[in-house]
Amino acid sequence: MFNFNYHTPTRVVFGKDTEQQVGRLVKETGCSKVLIHYGGGSAERSGLLGRIRASLDAEGISYVELGGVVPNPRLSLVYKGIELCKQEKADFLLAVGGGSVIDSCKAIGYGMTNEGDVWDFYEHTRQASACMPVGVVLTIAAAGSEMSNSSVITKDEGMVKRGYNNDICRPVFAVMNPELTMTLPAYQTACGCTDILMHTMERYFTNGGNMELTDAIAEALMRTVIRNALILKEEPDNYDARAEILWASSLSHNGLTGCGNDGGDFATHGLEHEIGGMFDVAHGAGLAAVWGSWARYVLRDCMPRFCKFARNVMGVAEDGSEEEIALKGIGAMEDFYRKIDMPTNMRELGVTPTQEQLKTMAHMCSLAAGGCKGSARKLYEEDMLEIYRMAL
Ligand code: NZQ
Ligand code: ZN
Repeated sequence: MFNFNYHTPTRVVFGKDTEQQVGRLVKETGCSKVLIHYGGGSAERSGLLGRIRASLDAEGISYVELGGVVPNPRLSLVYKGIELCKQEKADFLLAVGGGSVIDSCKAIGYGMTNEGDVWDFYEHTRQASACMPVGVVLTIAAAGSEMSNSSVITKDEGMVKRGYNNDICRPVFAVMNPELTMTLPAYQTACGCTDILMHTMERYFTNGGNMELTDAIAEALMRTVIRNALILKEEPDNYDARAEILWASSLSHNGLTGCGNDGGDFATHGLEHEIGGMFDVAHGAGLAAVWGSWARYVLRDCMPRFCKFARNVMGVAEDGSEEEIALKGIGAMEDFYRKIDMPTNMRELGVTPTQEQLKTMAHMCSLAAGGCKGSARKLYEEDMLEIYRMAL
């Protein structure tokens, strides 16, 4: 087991009606002026924003609002948020939504507490030294940003999608009411389940160390997500299934399922970020479209983990060679994607990149990773290009 530093400062307030506690939770932080940040309107339509305003009003906390965050959140709105917070002297950021809104809040938080252009952090040319406090009312189980140290922003010019990780952006609290996720379109629920699984898979497919307990947690999480994603396909209002998936979204990306590994693989995420940047697709669907190709490409360099995954997560029987068992595990995961209407290649994702675009994506992906990425197998630009070609 490798050394690790497990840092989860986020207070989780989980269950029915928990959004009514938001005013009190903000008050307890000592902050007094909130920027409520949200997306394209689902939170207004469902009445959630109204309940949040009432909860803040009840505690005498004033607020301003900035909506309009889109999936693959844009840097231009981050700049607007920073200006608004400065004008209004806001001292707390409340994200009402999913990963996109939370990540936009985190970026605004960096912009409010550090000099210079916030995009520098996403280009990794310097480190942030602070972040304004962020609280979350989560409406979609997916990105795990409600507990993660990560923020992913897309620069409008050139649609460059980049992530920045720093523990100082982890939210102060995350309010998670599974009922709020019941208004999600089936496609977003499936994208979310795919992303949740992938956050643990990225940590699981490594070539580092013995992690008996961490692996057992990871495998239980993956089995739970698969089982409940299938339930939600048939019964979108099943509270218990919503609750399991929501809790998994946080645990899958707060570091728990990677304790003791070598840092994880994350190549599939790197590959998806370029697809998401270039074609503006939903993150989870982009991951599903490229994972099978990545898995087949790296399989022989990470055989024991692929076999373990096939047996312990996908329930593949013991008969056959190691490679046959591993390939059956990959195939079973792709069957699961199909069952929840996720793509298994780029055509099914609805994008048809040219050979030139594939080369650009592979080049950008390797640049963003500083040359190479991966633990299951180290991938260089030519490997990334080959995987994109396999995923067409
Ligand atoms: O904008 P609204 O109208 O709210 O609609 C959203 C959006 O269209 C909708 N939605 C959310 N909750 C809803 C709802 N619709 C109906 N009812 C509800 N209760 O869902 C759509 C997707 O929302 P978004 O926030 O984009 O989803 P997600 O949580 O999947 O976030 C995706 C973003 O997070 C990044 C992704 O790259 C992508 O930009 N990631 C962030 C990570 C992190 N910070 O730790 C890690 C991830 O790997 C990921 O890269
Ligand atoms: Zn993700």
